[in-house]
Amino acid sequence: MRKIKLDSVFEEYDNFDLLSKEDQFLLNSAIEAAKSAYAPYSHFHVGAAVMLDNGEIVQGNNQENAAYPSGLCAERVAFFSTGAQHPNEKIKSIAVVAYPEGTEAGKVAVSPCGDCRQVMAEYEHRYGQKIRLIMQSGNGKFIVSESVSSLLPFAFDAESMK
Ligand code: THU
Repeated sequence: MRKIKLDSVFEEYDNFDLLSKEDQFLLNSAIEAAKSAYAPYSHFHVGAAVMLDNGEIVQGNNQENAAYPSGLCAERVAFFSTGAQHPNEKIKSIAVVAYPEGTEAGKVAVSPCGDCRQVMAEYEHRYGQKIRLIMQSGNGKFIVSESVSSLLPFAFDAESMK
């Protein structure tokens, strides 16, 4: 038996102003996207903004449904929209923000759910390029990961099926 120790490195920024201009721009786009979330059941608005290598932005937000599992998270709305509309463009980064209705973005932490991690990891494989993830970690702070796969060790991918 061998023990395997995995190391993941994340950057933490104490406030918005410490982030790069590009990360700030993407976060602002995610905040804008969160305003159009359809979240009448959870009252939790999530916004995501994907930046492509060519600089274009694709926004997403959570879209809920009376049949709860039929809804979709902001991250997957943004990634699937990107895959549908820009299938030949590589994804460079994604910013994710959230706020409970009646509050403002930046206060609570939001981190992609397991399903979204699985989907985002596949886009890294598909385009052969790491995708930078910027997310709010609460109290005005932000966490940045150089790769979405860092959030999903031992991910299932299509290689296993060959
Ligand atoms: N949600 C997202 O859109 N992204 C996340 O990273 C976490 C959760 C949504 C799903 C649901 O509409 C609401 O937030 C509450 O779970």
